[in-house]
Amino acid sequence: MGVVVGQGYVVRAVREQEWGDVKRLRLDALRDPVAHLAFLETYEDAAAKPDSFWQERTAAAGTEGNGVRQFVAEAPGGGWAGSVTVLLEEGGSEDWAGHAVERRQGHVVGVFVRAEHRGNGLIQQLLDAGVAWAWEQEAERVRLFVHADNPRAQGAYLRAGFKPTGLVVSFSKNEDERELELVLDR
Ligand SMILES: CC(C)(COP(=O)(O)OP(=O)(O)OC[C@H]1O[C@@H](n2cnc3c(N)ncnc32)[C@H](O)[C@@H]1OP(=O)(O)O)[C@@H](O)C(=O)NCCC(=O)NCCS
Repeated sequence: MGVVVGQGYVVRAVREQEWGDVKRLRLDALRDPVAHLAFLETYEDAAAKPDSFWQERTAAAGTEGNGVRQFVAEAPGGGWAGSVTVLLEEGGSEDWAGHAVERRQGHVVGVFVRAEHRGNGLIQQLLDAGVAWAWEQEAERVRLFVHADNPRAQGAYLRAGFKPTGLVVSFSKNEDERELELVLDR
């Protein structure tokens, strides 16, 4: 599966054997200046994980039927420019925070575009690929959480059509760390 997009990027689902690339991109994302706002994991925690963790994660996200899919953008000059991952959440279940999931929905996580590939529309192509997969899985909506102090990410999501639901949560013990839920309805 591959979709050629503007400027020669190819956005496609990750392949199950590509765990080394998955690990490299994730560790680079966790060293981004806004990583503390963007991701729940620290660089140190991720770097300490064994290869088996990355192998299992990539095998799951690289094959259909596991309720998760990771999409990556190959840069025209080689290497990965960015990635998004979509988790499928079933209606009637509880999400990781214990909130009820009312309808089948996609949940976008792990959004990252390398600094030199930002501001050129690539994030829209990555979101399009993830959202299209969620619709194929018969999701009724796609949601994500974005930190209140991450205006660039918010800008990208709003431009892509996501809208705030009004739900604000905190993933940390510090109540000032506010995450806004945004949703894209089908
Ligand atoms: C979030 C990310 C994927 C967005 O991709 P991008 O290519 O930078 O996004 P874009 O530049 O196309 O779009 C950002 C939008 O926010 C706007 N924006 C940028 N900085 C802004 C700021 N400080 N305040 C308000 N808006 C801002 C841009 O103008 C743009 O909107 P526009 O196209 O309507 O003008 C990328 O910046 C990234 O990887 N950031 C680090 C990791 C991260 O934050 N991930 C998201 C976790 S939820």
